[in-house]
Amino acid sequence: MRSSVGLVVPILVSFVLVASTSANFFQDVQITWGDGRGKILNNGQLLTLTLDKFSGSGFQSKNEYLFGKIDMQIKLVPGNSAGTVTTYYLRSQGSTWDEIDFEFLGNLSGDPYIVHTNVFSQGKGDREQQFYLWFDPTKDFHTYSVLWNPQRIIFSVDGTPIREFKNLESFGVPFPKNQPMKIYSSLWNADDWATRGGLVKTDWSKAPFTASYMNFKADACVWSSGRSSCSSTSSSKNAWLSQELDATSQQRLKWVQKNYMIYNYCTDTKRFPQGLPKECSVH
Ligand SMILES: *[C@@H]1O[C@H](CO)[C@@H](O)[C@H](O)[C@H]1NC(C)=O
Repeated sequence: MRSSVGLVVPILVSFVLVASTSANFFQDVQITWGDGRGKILNNGQLLTLTLDKFSGSGFQSKNEYLFGKIDMQIKLVPGNSAGTVTTYYLRSQGSTWDEIDFEFLGNLSGDPYIVHTNVFSQGKGDREQQFYLWFDPTKDFHTYSVLWNPQRIIFSVDGTPIREFKNLESFGVPFPKNQPMKIYSSLWNADDWATRGGLVKTDWSKAPFTASYMNFKADACVWSSGRSSCSSTSSSKNAWLSQELDATSQQRLKWVQKNYMIYNYCTDTKRFPQGLPKECSVH
């Protein structure tokens, strides 16, 4: 008798308190700027951001999260997207903010986008890694994910990890783990630096530029009124909270870094004449 009660209660608790997983942009995000250039369509299933000569546009999540596995499907600006930047990132508030960045730097038709990544902890970034993709990100939707748990941050593309930033607090490297973050995205003009370092300018005759979003999914701990939705959820429901790269994923990560990484701050000795950042020498 006792054992059956012991079984039922945890199941019920984890069922009720499981963090939000949903896919309706009306529910999950708000368009925050762009004066009508950002739109939620198809009953909340599709979101588009546009950029023209006068303005870009952007949205943010309604919820704040403290750890999560966040997926978004994005179809980037097609054709001549030179000078445009599509951002997709998590960020906390304040002057010592934490931030986990994906930025997609557009290019001339047929030339490769750059996927730019960065991690800020307590207001300090300077941890850029950049990649080309192994597909054309403007033809279809692809899934861009951030796994953020207390031990690591993993950036993935279609389930393939492209970057891991480990919690190396024990080596004195601050790690984002105390500040809840919202998810943000924007499409804007950055032709002073984005494409070939600013050499290629935005061709406004091709405007408006459009990026599209689908299937936002947050398996995440929602932070509200100083409390995490995960604090009482059974850990088996939130396997991502302790997820790490298995052997296959580590091999995929190596494959991406060997074949598609085009910039790594950890090898930029010119930029750090006093020595590379600490996390760069820990393996
Ligand atoms: C654009 O294409 C050029 C030429 O292939 C390449 O050098 C550059 O890295 C590409 N991406 C960006 C964003 O500049």
